Amino acid sequence: MAPRPTPRALAAPAPGWTADADVVVIGSGIAGLVAALRCRAHGRVLLVTKALLDAGSTRWAQGGIAAALDADDSPADHLADTLTAGVGVCDEAAVRVLVTEGPDAVRRLVDLGARFDLAASGEISLTREGGHHRRRIAHAGGDATGAEISRALRAALKETGIEVIEHALVLDLLKDGAGRAAGVTLHVMGEGQPGGVGAVRAPAVVLATGGLGQVFSATTNPDVSTGDGVALALRAGAEVSDLEFVQFHPTVLWLGPGARGRQPLVSEAVRGEGAYLVDGSGERFMVGRHELAELAPRDIVAKGIMNRMRETGEPCMYLDARHFGADMWERRFPTILAACRDHGIDPVTDLIPVLPAAHYASGGVRTDLDGRTSVPGLYACGEVACTGVHGANRLASNSLLEGLVFAERIAAAIGAEPLPEIPEADLAAVPGTLPDPAARGEIQRIMTAYTGVLRDADGLATAERELAALGGDAEPGVAAWETANLHLVASAIVAAARRRTETRGSHWRADHPDRDDAAWRGHLVTRLDGGELTTHFEEMA
Ligand code: SIN
Repeated sequence: MAPRPTPRALAAPAPGWTADADVVVIGSGIAGLVAALRCRAHGRVLLVTKALLDAGSTRWAQGGIAAALDADDSPADHLADTLTAGVGVCDEAAVRVLVTEGPDAVRRLVDLGARFDLAASGEISLTREGGHHRRRIAHAGGDATGAEISRALRAALKETGIEVIEHALVLDLLKDGAGRAAGVTLHVMGEGQPGGVGAVRAPAVVLATGGLGQVFSATTNPDVSTGDGVALALRAGAEVSDLEFVQFHPTVLWLGPGARGRQPLVSEAVRGEGAYLVDGSGERFMVGRHELAELAPRDIVAKGIMNRMRETGEPCMYLDARHFGADMWERRFPTILAACRDHGIDPVTDLIPVLPAAHYASGGVRTDLDGRTSVPGLYACGEVACTGVHGANRLASNSLLEGLVFAERIAAAIGAEPLPEIPEADLAAVPGTLPDPAARGEIQRIMTAYTGVLRDADGLATAERELAALGGDAEPGVAAWETANLHLVASAIVAAARRRTETRGSHWRADHPDRDDAAWRGHLVTRLDGGELTTHFEEMA
């Protein structure tokens, strides 16, 4: 059966209410909150978010935010580590922006109220994570960096009085007659808010919707990470890039073979502070596989773990951090300690069972250095975006920094020119049907089985066929809209993954085991064209 073409908009009733803004920001992680705070100087900002303001990935970020803050460090060193992790396909200009603007952006975050852990000297205390050749990761509350950044930014937002709509699932981009972004449609559920399907009309739309980890069965991402921004951008005709590079975090707490949904992370910083990876017999299997051993870039560690599991037949590997002792565990990693103890593991006395799980989309909606997408008036920042800084594999703790730096750049770009008037847009109902929400589990099963760390042509062809066969005739509703988004994003990931017949970065093609083929040094750019996904390769200069 031929797949049904993907419509340019989700089936939905006509908006029952409208609101106007100069800038509508969608999402409330570090990128969305910073974009909203900084855009306020340029006009009326409306921030919409899918659940509560702190429900996205930012608050779960443990390790920290990377920046060359130490006197002995430099943006050039940070650049070199980022390019190495990205294995040849980072956009060097974007990385240069990230690493040179990063330190001051972090200092501005402190000015906004974020309280990082301090060393005895009074300077920000810095730790190390995989792929970093020096200590460069600022952290807060030990291992609760994202929660502290989210707290500080939400407090700052409250002071500004910026209007917020929570429990708002964004549906589609509105466009004016010239094809420019004109706002979004969205569905809101919540007391004291406008209800049902509505429209926000705005000449500048900033997508900061976060990740897509929920396309896999087990992920570190929260439930809200269903790829809504990438799906919206595809339906709007925008280019997305590098989607095949889904990063798997090497050390996610293993909760057993049937574990589903958001899984507890065991931060790289635990290894940064001296924990070892061992197999069931206690052997440190990363030693000798890479000069940085357990602190190799995370794709190398994830593959090392998967390889060792295959060699030994064990269902997981183990982190040994018993030598930290109770005091260090309680002071430095209270969140991880509590999560482990909640699951009956005491890291002070036990090995921690770990396994790689889907963690981060290194690709996303393609942007320029100011966050502009290929649709005029539509911007993207944070995990939903592909600025080019991550290449094939994001360097640890570069994600919060990317959200921060590029959100500020978007605000500066929006402020640099007078904003157009509130645009007119077609607010008619969108006819059609949607996939059955029951397909969500099937999508996750297919993606986990065939599109994980280890891939091959047969498996990816099966994934494409099985995804195309998923149908349904559901009425509009939150579960059906989310399932449509997951289905479109999963299909786009598979299309790009099939095309890239080499092993690079976050994934490993069993049928193309040689790494980093020079002919594949470039980007796979995907669009939705006439209802079909098309993917083309752009070689890098
Ligand atoms: C971690 O703390 O290991 C996660 C940090 C990141 O994903 O960059």
